[in-house]
Amino acid sequence: MLSVKNLYVAYGQSEIIHGISFEAKQGEIVAIMGRNGMGKTTLMKSLIGINRARSGHIELNNEDITELPTYMRVKNGVAYVPQGRQIFSSLTVEENILTGMEYTLDKKEELLTNAYNMFPVLFDMSTRKGGNLSGGQQQQLAIARALVAEPKVLILDEPTEGIQPSIIKDMARMLNQIKVMHNLTIVVSEQVLNFTVNIADRLYVMESGNFIHEDVRGSIDEKKITSYLSV
Ligand SMILES: Nc1ncnc2c1ncn2[C@@H]1O[C@H](COP(=O)(O)OP(=O)(O)OP(=O)(O)O)[C@@H](O)[C@H]1O
Ligand SMILES: [Mg+2]
Repeated sequence: MLSVKNLYVAYGQSEIIHGISFEAKQGEIVAIMGRNGMGKTTLMKSLIGINRARSGHIELNNEDITELPTYMRVKNGVAYVPQGRQIFSSLTVEENILTGMEYTLDKKEELLTNAYNMFPVLFDMSTRKGGNLSGGQQQQLAIARALVAEPKVLILDEPTEGIQPSIIKDMARMLNQIKVMHNLTIVVSEQVLNFTVNIADRLYVMESGNFIHEDVRGSIDEKKITSYLSV
């Protein structure tokens, strides 16, 4: 379980996240929606340790990880799929996946097999350069690279950005499957509501670094959220 308590994050003098709190339980997808520039990436980066907290706490299974550097968080079971995917375009698909195995390389064959079973297109393209993949294929590659670290918590920053609508549906199915298969905690930032309602167990709307709205699965107020996202 990931627990965020009264988190403040700033770039220099400019405070972006103003005291956010939420929990994401094991086997649960928590979605954070918000328009451009509202602080989603700033929050996601603080969960993986790229941004440091100014104050507040981040706990992983009741252990405080607020001061841990990124590599230690990865080691402790937090994986991150950045906005824009950040695939290594000159490495092959398989080499890209292997970069996620820094702490799990002893299980290389098993993890590769699992990744290819989950994403058959990556098996078909395993020797192709990452840069030659479509947006949807790159997103699958980025998720595969994160999963081979065997995380407990997976952080996804705007996974549907730049992905064709037809593929977005597949991605929702895939994330629901991953959540169940690995009993994973997933925190995802998004702007696409019809994708998010298909995956979110809990949904927050973020505006200027604060949560201004919260819904749970089954009672997601799509009209209200649409208005927040289109202001
Ligand atoms: N490295 C940085 N230094 C200073 N300010 C930054 C930095 N990165 C982001 N910001 C500012 O922080 C605010 C939040 O940006 P952030 O990237 O977190 O938003 P976002 O919700 O992820 O937006 P988008 O949907 O466009 O990805 C913006 O005002 C942005 O200009
Ligand atoms: Mg962002």
